[in-house]
This record gives sequence, C-alpha cells and structure tokens, in this order.
Amino acid sequence: MSDGIVFLLNGETERVADVPASRTLLDWLREEKRLTGTKEGCNEGDCGACTVLVTDRNGETRAHNACILFLPQLHGKAVRTIEGISGPDGALHPVQAALIARHGSQCGFCTPGIAVSLAAAHLAGDRDHDRVLAGNLCRCTGYAPIIRAAEDAAAAPVPAWMTKDGARLASLDVPPLAIAPRSVDELAVSLGNDPDAVLIAGATDVGLWATKQLRDLPDVIFIGDVAELREIRVRADTIRLGAMVTISRLREAMETYHPHFAALLRRFGSEQVRNAGTIGGNIANGSPIGDGAPALIALGAELILRRKNKRRRIALEDFFIDYGRQDLRSGEFLEWILIPRQPDTLRCYKISKRFDQDISALCGCFNITVEDGCVTAARIAFGGMAATVKRARATEAALVGQPWSEATIRRGQAALAGDFTPISDMRASAGYRLKVAENLLMRCFLESRGEAVNVLEVRP
Ligand SMILES: Cc1cc2nc3c(=O)[nH]c(=O)nc-3n(C[C@H](O)[C@H](O)[C@H](O)COP(=O)(O)OP(=O)(O)OC[C@H]3O[C@@H](n4cnc5c(N)ncnc54)[C@H](O)[C@@H]3O)c2cc1C
Ligand code: FES
Ligand code: FES
Repeated sequence: MSDGIVFLLNGETERVADVPASRTLLDWLREEKRLTGTKEGCNEGDCGACTVLVTDRNGETRAHNACILFLPQLHGKAVRTIEGISGPDGALHPVQAALIARHGSQCGFCTPGIAVSLAAAHLAGDRDHDRVLAGNLCRCTGYAPIIRAAEDAAAAPVPAWMTKDGARLASLDVPPLAIAPRSVDELAVSLGNDPDAVLIAGATDVGLWATKQLRDLPDVIFIGDVAELREIRVRADTIRLGAMVTISRLREAMETYHPHFAALLRRFGSEQVRNAGTIGGNIANGSPIGDGAPALIALGAELILRRKNKRRRIALEDFFIDYGRQDLRSGEFLEWILIPRQPDTLRCYKISKRFDQDISALCGCFNITVEDGCVTAARIAFGGMAATVKRARATEAALVGQPWSEATIRRGQAALAGDFTPISDMRASAGYRLKVAENLLMRCFLESRGEAVNVLEVRP
C-alpha cells in the first residue's frame, strides 16, 4: 500500500492514500474519478488511447500512457486528462477544434489520446507530428485529416489554462513518500535494507508485469524522484548519464554528440514510451533486443553499480552474462552510465517490421575508426543476434588493420557467422538475422562513402 500520494489532476489537488503501489493511473481515473475520456485500448503502452499529460516539478510537460503509469509515479506532479485540456468554461483546445473542423475523428475511440498527444506537442511548439503521433493508433479515420488538424492548430496560441500547472506545483506541499527516495543516498539505504525490493523507474517494463502478467509486485521502490539519477553531466572525458535519464532526454542529448544514436532512439517505442522509459531500466532489464545497449557498447560505455556505499565500475558488455542474467548483485542498483567522449563515428541501424513503435528484430551498431584508408579501431555490437546484446569480436578482428574496402567488408561479413548463432522467433528467422547483420555491415561501409542507404530517402 502506498501512503499519501499528492498530485494535481486537471488543476485540482488530489490526495490518494491506501492504494496498492501498482494501481495504474488509467484504472484510477476511470474507476474512482469516473473520468472516462481516457480510454483503455491495449493496456500495454502500444495504442496511445490512454494518453495523458504529465508535468513534473521542473515544469516539463510530456505525454504519457496512463495504462502503465503507477499512481506513486505521479507524486508531486500534475496530470491533465482529455477532460482538462479544454478550458474551465468549456472552450475547446485549438487541437480539439481543429480535429472537428478537419474531420479527424470517426469512431472516436483513439481521439482523446490523439488530442492529448497533439496538445503536448502544441505546448512544446513541436511540429514533428509524425513522430508525435507514432504512439497513437487510429484504425478508422486515417492519419491525413489528423495531421492536417495538427498543422492547422500549430499556429494558435497556447491556451492560458495549459500553462498554469508548473506554477501551481511550486506551491504544492509534497511530503516525502516512504517508497520514493529523493536522493541517491536515500535510495542506497532503502535498497540496502530491502535488497529484494523491485526498483521502478519509468515502469514501461514493470507496468506490463502488473497489467499483462497480473503479477503481484513485492516491495517496490520508485526511483523517479531521485534527482541525481535524472542528470546528464557532460565532462571533458565522459558523458555521464544518470540511470533515470529518460529515452526522450537521451535522444535530445545525443542529437549533439552521436546523431545516429539519436536517430535510433527516435524509433524506440513511441513518444509516450520514451517519455517514461529510462536508459537505466533499458539496461537493467537485460533484454537481448533492447535498443540502448548495442549503441552504448559500441561507444565503449561503462556502468557504475552501487550497493549501499560501495561502487564498482564495469564495462557494459560484461554486464550481460546470459539470457535473463545480469551482473547485478543483491541490493545493488545501476547508478551511472559513462560514455567516453570521442569523435563521432557511430552508425546505428534498427531493423523491425514497422518503422515506428516496434521492437527490433535486430539492431546493429558500428563504431569504426578509419585513418589514412585503414581501419584502426572497431567496436561493433548487435541486439537480437544472441541471448544477450553482444559485441562482434571476430568481425572487429577481421576489420582492424585492414584497408577500409569492400574486400575487407566481405571478410567481416564472413566473420559474423563466427560471432553469432541467432535463433528464429516470431520477429525473424535465424537465417534472416544473419543475412541482415551482414548487410548492415555493408550498409555502414556504403554510408561512409556517401551512398544513399536510408530507406526513407530516395536519390536518383
Ligand atoms: C509499447 C512499448 C514499446 C517499447 N519499445 C521498445 C523499443 O523500441 N526498444 C527497446 O529497447 N525497448 C522498448 N520497450 C521496453 C521498455 O520501454 C524499455 O526497456 C525501457 O527503457 C525500460 O525502462 P523503464 O524505466 O521503463 O524500466 P522499468 O520498467 O521501470 O524497469 C525495468 C527493469 O529494470 C529494473 N531497473 C530499473 N532501473 C534500475 C536501476 N537504476 N538499477 C537497477 N535496476 C533497475 C527494474 O527493477 C526492472 O526490473 C518498449 C516498451 C513498451 C511498453
Ligand atoms: S491503453 Fe493502449 S497505450 Fe494505454
Ligand atoms: S477514429 Fe476510430 S480509431 Fe481513430
């Protein structure tokens, strides 16, 4: 049970006590508050029908999926549902008015989620509507009228009621929550005292344990309020990422340092998933098809793991021991991810059945240094090719010291079969995976020669 969660809901203060820590915002809105505008489609973060706005104490407002958001994650924050994006006098939000004018709704089931996602973009002045809407599934209208509505609304001023939550939050009395430490030292003590507790970061994985696997969660510790873990510290020699840095914030940061990594993260889940999911959770879950690890391994990233006051530093590639087995000891948590500063030679390619909102069949990341036409260093990592995300050491060895030429790439392609024995599953067959991995190495080579390799661009 969770004690005294305090947050703003559509501008009004809510105090919620005695609810299970795994009570989702979606269920609570619909069952307790009877705010049924927020819809349940999939209950697993895929469809966006449940999209709400969440403003944090830094005044940052982002779209989230209410179905995989636990109530304690809202402590000290402000939520706006579809009922709260129109004005107190019933005035429509510009995106709502535009959706009506442009016939952007038919059955209407997706429409509240679409309006809320568009309201988030409107507030942020974000006009990349394809990206913004990739997590909102509409089965009957078709996206053209919806995008037209978004474009029409973009120039309208942000309504006054949409900007008030940040200031209200500043004066909200938010007492500490026992299950939500606020500093990394407090977290170290809490987990040290209860080493079997489940850490909950963005809950984009853990949320599904509750909603889909119907698992009872044991003791939980929410780490979203640990300020240090949300930091990105750029130093002369490293970029330090706190484990709670969201995929959205990482994507924005990587635009500057490693744009290919940013482009890969653009295809990680949807806007709502990226706004909640963290890089720490993505590594700690040990998924063999996680998209963060291949790029970070190719960059030579290291982890700082902490248990009470003891820290150890390991290479990220050594963290993944086997399927479902990570080098994370009892009572230990991931504190920092360290990326060495380096010239940007990273190339990342995600292969999935859909461009947006899909899990990788495989993901290849290549960090290859070429000097005077010769390969002087290579770090290559793949997801989806083994029981863990893994480095392609034989392939690297086949490249280093060789001329950067098609003949070398062919030898590297042959070496991939020594690095990986992929499996067949619902996403891809073993043969497909190996062939595509070989092709991605060639793609990396062709891209370095300025050839068009992106499926989204067509050049004569
Ligand atoms: C619709 C949908 C689409 C998705 N698409 C993708 C995708 O395209 N690519 C991809 O890689 N993933 C995807 N995911 C999976 C998920 O979003 C990511 O793995 C995400 O990064 C998990 O982060 P989180 O903060 O939500 O983790 P949580 O769910 O909070 O936690 C995940 C695990 O990590 C542990 N943990 C969290 N933080 C720490 C820490 N600091 N120290 C130790 N343990 C910790 C938790 O205890 C738990 O076991 C998707 C998920 C959904 C629901
Ligand atoms: S109900 Fe589908 S994303 Fe939440
Ligand atoms: S209007 Fe029916 S699903 Fe979008």
